[in-house]
Amino acid sequence: MNIKKYVIANWKMNKTNSETVNFMEKFSKRIEDLKSTEVVICPSFLAIPLMNEFCKDKKIKIGAQNCYFLDSGAFTGEISAKMLKDSGAEYVILGHSERREYFEETGNIINKKIKSVLNNNLKVILCVGETQIQRENKQEYSVVKNQLKDALSGIKPEDFENILIAYEPIWAIGTGKVVTQFDAREMAVQIKEFISLELKLSKNCIVLYGGSVNASNAKEFFGVKEIDGGLIGGAALKEEEFMKIIQIAENS
Ligand code: PGA
Repeated sequence: MNIKKYVIANWKMNKTNSETVNFMEKFSKRIEDLKSTEVVICPSFLAIPLMNEFCKDKKIKIGAQNCYFLDSGAFTGEISAKMLKDSGAEYVILGHSERREYFEETGNIINKKIKSVLNNNLKVILCVGETQIQRENKQEYSVVKNQLKDALSGIKPEDFENILIAYEPIWAIGTGKVVTQFDAREMAVQIKEFISLELKLSKNCIVLYGGSVNASNAKEFFGVKEIDGGLIGGAALKEEEFMKIIQIAENS
């Protein structure tokens, strides 16, 4: 498939395994004929093995929302990229603002996690974004560029082929507020230029937008050439709405 847009569901700490089955029984039947959209669902760790049953012959990929940066060892409670690969995941979200804020993940930790994910032949969805105050102070570009620089330190151009960037302004996550189409496009352009000209990693960097994307506003973002898709939280929990967002991506 020639992928034109990515639609990635970040379910966060939502849906038990039975709720996941319920969703997937309805959803997976309806997703047969996608031509240009890569659909990824990132459920809880526990639901990843059972998602395999639904995604096997479908065009749905499975992602995780986090991982530890070593493959195995005495790290009680952690899950490694190696385990995720073995369970059927293809993507891992890293650097989400909720992990940075509530779990104190620094750029250095995110960088180690990225390297571990790539070593295990998984793809990274790297989240970056500014706070409301940083935007008010016009620091959004410097904040995002610093996050990229830290997270991608030591990454080689050949590794970058397996990394997608998700621009998620923190003040837009779960709040119903979104950036304007103009601002989202501008940030996507700045990220692409930074990755290409400053970090010299790729001329074709994939940049998604995330933060309160839903079926009513997805067209605004997916219609922008420089925005390669969306990372969707709340709106991806309802199969009807998620399906609509995927259709918008297919038609854009
Ligand atoms: P939201 O979450 O769509 O509920 O704003 C997006 C995200 O945090 O990835």
